[in-house]
Amino acid sequence: MAKISPKIDDVMNINWLARVGDTMVELVELTKEEIEKIDKMSPAEFVEYFKSISKPYFDRQYRYGYEWITKADTGAIISWLRQGTWNEWAAVNLLGTLIKDYTDYVDPEFYPLFARQIADECRHVLIRHNLLKKYGGTMEGFTPLEEWVRVFELPLKLALEKPEFFQLRFTSVLQVGEWASVSHHRGVVAGAGDKHPELRAVFKEILDDELFHWSIAERTWLKMCDTLEKKLDVIRITQNYTLPVLDAAKRKRLELALQHKI
Ligand SMILES: [Fe+2]
Ligand SMILES: [Fe+2]
Repeated sequence: MAKISPKIDDVMNINWLARVGDTMVELVELTKEEIEKIDKMSPAEFVEYFKSISKPYFDRQYRYGYEWITKADTGAIISWLRQGTWNEWAAVNLLGTLIKDYTDYVDPEFYPLFARQIADECRHVLIRHNLLKKYGGTMEGFTPLEEWVRVFELPLKLALEKPEFFQLRFTSVLQVGEWASVSHHRGVVAGAGDKHPELRAVFKEILDDELFHWSIAERTWLKMCDTLEKKLDVIRITQNYTLPVLDAAKRKRLELALQHKI
């Protein structure tokens, strides 16, 4: 598998949106009144506010998951799982890099939470890969989709552009992606029904872990989102970067997997 290890030297003013291309994400317009409302929110109210403004996006991820599994034949499942297995490995690599190379930017209270996520992602590599083999697939000759490489490069790139908001930004990308995964996997579990029991069980197990991974963002924001500037930064990062980049990656995987092209 190819290696992802974004280094501080690579991080220089990349216009990510220009590389995302067309997006189906509806961006939220923040009026003066809305900003005043956000300013008065407690961190806990802000987490709920984020979930409510992003709901249409997460609902669409559910539909992607449902649509994929209801249309998928064995070749499409193999194709999807090849990218899926690599994604789990990329998450391990990214979180390992976070703990190893960027320790000073992370609140020590969160070390065990990120470490637990690493352990989960390692297990996900195994269970996704085992499922891939059960369907008759392998990782041979696999090259990750560029859109997914971007997903895993983004957290460190954006965090390092504003080191004083490092953990806030990191979680606004990676762990928001986990929340998108929860919706997506719920769609797969609902669509798989009795037709794909093993796949259903694996996606359900992963979904349960993703809820914990998303909670690392919630816990970070509860602790750190105590100024308007920080709250607006979370909204800007998720709206302008995380959600469009993830949406482009998920749509590409869906489209190519159905054609057995991954
Ligand atoms: Fe995972
Ligand atoms: Fe995860």
